[in-house]
Amino acid sequence: MALFLALETSCDETAAAVFDDDLNIRANVVASQTDLHARFGGVVPEVAARAHLQRLLPVIDEALRQAQVSLRDISAIAVMNTPGLVGSLLMGVSAAKMLAVALEVPLLAVNHIEAHVYACRIAAGRDIFPAIGLVVSGGHTVLFHCRAPLDFEILGATLDDAAGEAFDKAASMLNLGFPGGPQIEKEAASGNAKAFRFPRAFLHEPRLDFSFSGLKTALLYTIRDLGYQPGSDIPPALRADLAASFQQAVIDVLVAKCGQALDQTGLTRLCVGGGVAANKALRQAMQGMCESRGAELFVPPMSLCTDNAAMAAMAVERYRLGQFAPLDLDAVPTYRPRRAAPVGVQQAS
Ligand code: KG4
Ligand code: ZN
Repeated sequence: MALFLALETSCDETAAAVFDDDLNIRANVVASQTDLHARFGGVVPEVAARAHLQRLLPVIDEALRQAQVSLRDISAIAVMNTPGLVGSLLMGVSAAKMLAVALEVPLLAVNHIEAHVYACRIAAGRDIFPAIGLVVSGGHTVLFHCRAPLDFEILGATLDDAAGEAFDKAASMLNLGFPGGPQIEKEAASGNAKAFRFPRAFLHEPRLDFSFSGLKTALLYTIRDLGYQPGSDIPPALRADLAASFQQAVIDVLVAKCGQALDQTGLTRLCVGGGVAANKALRQAMQGMCESRGAELFVPPMSLCTDNAAMAAMAVERYRLGQFAPLDLDAVPTYRPRRAAPVGVQQAS
């Protein structure tokens, strides 16, 4: 049985995982840097890269300890080399190369965004492709047609803010702290989602793209119109209504676009991954939409939704095919995916 050590340092979590070629996760260790960045209201790239440097070796040690294996048992090193903050990515990529050279084992590269979808495959414990895949994280909102484990094509993406980023900015306007997603969810639980009618971009259009900047601006203007300064204290009942109405607007578009993607492709499986997939109201709404279409929903447990190294078990697929990464593997900050032709348009061959 092949054993893999995987590293993840693309943003502000330093993570290491150990798994085998049957996709059993033996250890999944994440050191969050949230405390370091909270006072800035967002991730500071320089601070993140330095923190990775300090935490990477203890996190690797802990993963090996939890898995009860030593470095000598490892058959290959996996690393997420794209996309992310370049300084942060470099920490994981450099460490992974060093380990691969020292242990004389292959290096495997994994795309962080695609791995968020693959987390659904790991959690399901069985083959789930072809499927529609939605990744909703702090940096990305992407809808995929996943034909096979290593064959993902983009159907749509956000034109501006990512869904998680919108949650974080809304939380900051409502003075709820960082990261915003969990705070908004908590606040929304006691609010009225119909109290304010916020915009839902492209809701009834067939295109499968997203836009959250208009929603963000609408929240800003609503807070001002109510006579408050964004970021200042707002009475709790009003704040809960604003959070609930905001969250509902995000959920409505995410659910509608997934429904359209299922209808347009005729697929009957939906995978939702990324930090925002931790949102229980979103999960419930997705479940309802899937049930109404007779489709199956796959959402990973929390530990595989937010950033982690276990989702790099996607590397097992590459290992099986002998798709090893070269030792001059780059850390690539931007995501340059393959995009499907819009509905009704023939792809040029
Ligand atoms: O996938 P992730 O851990 O990191 C990135 O790759 O970006 O996603 C982090 C994002 C943050 O924007 C955070 O606010 C959001 O996921 N998030 C949530 C929830 N938990 C985390 N958003 C909505 N509801 C949640 N419960
Ligand atoms: Zn992520």
